[in-house]
Amino acid sequence: MNEKPELDRIATRLTADHNLRMRRIDPRIAPAPVMPEHHVQGTLAVGRILEQRYDESAYASLWGALRRYVLHIRVAGPDPSPAFDKVVGGLLDRIDAGPDRGADQAVTLTWPSLDIACVAPLVRHGFAPLTSLVVKELHRPDDLPGGAIVRSAQRDDLEWLADQAHRLHRFENQLGVLPDRPALRARLHTELAEAMADENCFILVASTDKAPVGFIQGQVPSGAWIEQQITMAPAGYLSRLFIEPAARRKSVGRSLVAAAHDILRGHGATAVMLHHSLHNPFAAPFWAESGYRPTLTTWSKRFH
Ligand SMILES: CC(C)(COP(=O)(O)OP(=O)(O)OC[C@H]1O[C@@H](n2cnc3c(N)ncnc32)[C@H](O)[C@@H]1OP(=O)(O)O)[C@@H](O)C(=O)NCCC(=O)NCCS
Repeated sequence: MNEKPELDRIATRLTADHNLRMRRIDPRIAPAPVMPEHHVQGTLAVGRILEQRYDESAYASLWGALRRYVLHIRVAGPDPSPAFDKVVGGLLDRIDAGPDRGADQAVTLTWPSLDIACVAPLVRHGFAPLTSLVVKELHRPDDLPGGAIVRSAQRDDLEWLADQAHRLHRFENQLGVLPDRPALRARLHTELAEAMADENCFILVASTDKAPVGFIQGQVPSGAWIEQQITMAPAGYLSRLFIEPAARRKSVGRSLVAAAHDILRGHGATAVMLHHSLHNPFAAPFWAESGYRPTLTTWSKRFH
């Protein structure tokens, strides 16, 4: 007897139940699609592993491990914790990390931040929370703090911007979040030059006493994949914010964020989101104070 149609039917029902439960927990999260295949299937949970391999020269290698196992799970029931625990264990058992287990490999799972029922199983299986996708509604204009002058980045700013983006990346590397890669600054320089030429991107520079002290980079609503992760639309995305250490706690960050929000509102955005590292002690209080709330947490497990 062919069991596949029956398994597919169970997976479809589980996905519907999963989405119903998630909508109750956090209506800002977009419904999850039915998975095209499953590697572990129970009556209350299904899971799948997507393996991704990147060369060190690939752009994606700047943002994570060269070999990634991305877990996708749908879980249902009033107490999903045991079924979730089992499916995570089953998926991990299928991963053959090879003899050089520690070398540039990671297992990741992105899960609704407010679903606390699934936190303990992830911790038990050795996952740590790595990044948070935080979201803010853009209903009201921000109070514009004084002190810093904010303007659009010019071609002349490119070298300075590349230096700052490099410092930010190295800072995230020091926190164990982003990898170091060959020719890092040159690659960030190229990325920033492309962003400056892209009509969907913006870069703002803040100055005090004429010298630049910080920048913010973002993109207006443009149908990017990240916008599909939440139900609020149109949504913008902020990708970088860095303030010179000597200029911090003087509302420069706040001025840049307020100016970025204004640009996004001008492009019709009703929400804005960004990823920040949960290892970064400056980020969580700053973004919470700016009105951003946790939505999706990316958990990561490294091999030792
Ligand atoms: C996070 C960062 C951008 C904040 O910039 P900033 O100009 O210092 O922030 P502001 O002065 O505008 O702070 C606004 C509010 O955020 C909160 N805040 C900012 N930094 C904080 C910190 N280190 N600890 C606690 N709260 C903080 C405070 O509520 C602050 O208001 P207050 O000073 O009146 O109490 C800056 O620390 C930075 O560049 N850090 C390194 C790079 C980084 O973390 N980038 C963000 C990556 S997502």
